[in-house]
Amino acid sequence: MIQKSIHILSIESSCDDTGAAVLKNKKVLSNVIAGQKIHAAYGGVVPELASRAHQQHIVPVVDQALKQAGIDKEQLDAIAFTQGPGLMGSLLVGTSFAKSLSISLEIPLIPVNHMQAHVLAHFIEDESQIEPPFPFLCLTISGGHTQILKVRAYDNFEILGETIDDAVGEAFDKTAKLLGLPYPGGPLIDKLARLGNPGAFLFSEPKTDNPLDFSFSGFKTSILYFLQKEQKKDPSFIENNLNDICASVQHSIVNILMNRLKKASEITGIDHVAIAGGVSANSEIRETLKTMETELGWHTYIPKFEYTTDNAAMIGITAYFKYLDKNFGKESVVATSRLDINA
Ligand code: KG4
Ligand code: ZN
Repeated sequence: MIQKSIHILSIESSCDDTGAAVLKNKKVLSNVIAGQKIHAAYGGVVPELASRAHQQHIVPVVDQALKQAGIDKEQLDAIAFTQGPGLMGSLLVGTSFAKSLSISLEIPLIPVNHMQAHVLAHFIEDESQIEPPFPFLCLTISGGHTQILKVRAYDNFEILGETIDDAVGEAFDKTAKLLGLPYPGGPLIDKLARLGNPGAFLFSEPKTDNPLDFSFSGFKTSILYFLQKEQKKDPSFIENNLNDICASVQHSIVNILMNRLKKASEITGIDHVAIAGGVSANSEIRETLKTMETELGWHTYIPKFEYTTDNAAMIGITAYFKYLDKNFGKESVVATSRLDINA
């Protein structure tokens, strides 16, 4: 029997990127993203400005996604959107747009959990990606989350460890702010770290009751105190040592992440290990994980760069699995700023 191809238009608007993608089954036909530069001047995302920018971007972004995919909206089988977690004002723009479009086209509406989508981005059919087999471990690291998950199935996630305060993306972004770098600081720290010495300065690893949990708020404070102390001795300490500071902070963060991940693998006996989320774009994390293949015999899964930070293709692949299960949303479905990983 020849199976009909499923075309899904997906929309992502959980934070400060407006995304739209069209998938044909598990393949991406288009993946359009409009960022919002306006937040850089404020040192972080301003929710009010983010929702306004989503309203400006959503129509042209969806239009472009359909054009690039070369399909007509009448050929779509379903409309998917990010239901949460995220900023309420931002989520509402995507939710309302997706609902209206699905009602007017008389096709199913599929609400998607943003954090599940980061993980399931690994299942997008792409020559540069390999699908991890179940169960696998996934270190999900973004601006809002830091979790080690045992992924049993497309819809079954066990949290083995998570942050008890700040997310790792916040640790990158807040450190960047202390160094006078613009938002989002993660990619900039990554770039400058390549020019510095990772062993120049030492930052200690925060302790947690559960050995698989993370804590980044004390880590950030220790960097603040370190910088204040050094600046008393040399007011130009930051500018004179910027690359070394970035390299040392990043190296400490990577060590914290990898130590927990190694423990999780030891405890569970699972050696298929993936990373996901915006921070998994970090070059040192990607390189270090790769070395685990030879060091520990792990099978590692590193997402294609464009599927790491927020994007609509990951919403589309998650929606595809829900479509196969006929797991559709009602017209009364609402956006939710907090959403459990299994919801
Ligand atoms: O997944 P994402 O795009 O949005 C959320 O769902 O939060 O993640 C954004 C986070 C930001 O904190 C950003 O600084 C960080 O990912 N990030 C990076 C890199 N690229 C993005 N952090 C470190 N190194 C990078 N190359
Ligand atoms: Zn995200």
